[in-house]
Amino acid sequence: MVDRYGRKIDYMRISITDRCNLRCRYCMPDGISLVPMEDILTYEEIVQICGAAAKLGIRKLKITGGEPLARIGCAELIGKLKQIPGIDQVTMTTNGVALGRYLPQLLAHGLDAVNISLDTLEPQVYQQITGRDMLGCVLEGIRQAIAAGLPVKLNAVLLRGVNDMEWESLVDLANSLPVDVRFIEMMPIGCGKAYAPVYQEELLQALRRRYPKLQEDKRIHGNGPAVYYNIPGAKGSVGFISAIHGKFCHGCNRIRLSSQGKLKPCLCYGDTVDLMEVLRDGQREGVRERLMERISQAVQRKPQEHRFGVSGGVTEVKKMVQIGG
Ligand code: 5AD
Ligand code: SF4
Repeated sequence: MVDRYGRKIDYMRISITDRCNLRCRYCMPDGISLVPMEDILTYEEIVQICGAAAKLGIRKLKITGGEPLARIGCAELIGKLKQIPGIDQVTMTTNGVALGRYLPQLLAHGLDAVNISLDTLEPQVYQQITGRDMLGCVLEGIRQAIAAGLPVKLNAVLLRGVNDMEWESLVDLANSLPVDVRFIEMMPIGCGKAYAPVYQEELLQALRRRYPKLQEDKRIHGNGPAVYYNIPGAKGSVGFISAIHGKFCHGCNRIRLSSQGKLKPCLCYGDTVDLMEVLRDGQREGVRERLMERISQAVQRKPQEHRFGVSGGVTEVKKMVQIGG
């Protein structure tokens, strides 16, 4: 599919749950109300939507949440999505807490790669950011995923005064392990609004000071907007995802499906196209065609760019845990 601005849309992120086993303060605060299970897409419905999306040219899927591994049967869903004709790649974003436990199943069902959130290497800071004492589990999951040969990316969001001083230790992971370590600039979505981002430029300057031979890496690492750098001799790369300063909307390739079956053209805005309605309106005829029509509508409604930096620019009122990043 090509949108109004000539962008090729071949990537869909799918949030399969709004539940999470952590409470990262910039993503899911305590006390947030959860969607009743009956209002969440069943796995069969997700497969139906993906079948229609694949017909329209979606080639890559990313399973997100909440925490996708908090929903039973996630690995089996991945297996079903991998069988859809036209789908080339199914990857997942996880907080890593349950990764070690589910890794054998995920590999057996053909998961192609995994992004794991890791903001800190200090157990106390981990507890402070996520509300849970789970760092050990996450590190073990990362170790096992790498050992199994699964391509691994680590996502770090830096919070000023909380974990921003740890950027060097996080970068060191890319020195010693075959992983991409990516710094994601805080976006003003949901609880993220309360935090000042640590900007890419600032971090890149510090990185260049520490590694004067740093080189930009032009190879394609994935589906997304990250810009990568290589430290000579390092096993992995360091990436930056800076929605605000490195505005990458001109290259945007994605749509987002919420766990409630709403298709979201852009992260910044509340606008959605309802697919759940098509699946549950009782009309059994032509479901695939009607899904395809609405998916095309969502793509045609993709705005040119976000307005994160503009006051009143963000119309999305959901929390990140409900969107899946
Ligand atoms: N801005 C940037 N990244 C965020 N994430 C969650 N909330 C925000 C935000 N407001 C990140 C998580 C996870 C990924 C899915 O999105 O840390 O790595
Ligand atoms: Fe695409 Fe919107 Fe994200 Fe920009 S902000 S990259 S247009 S989804």
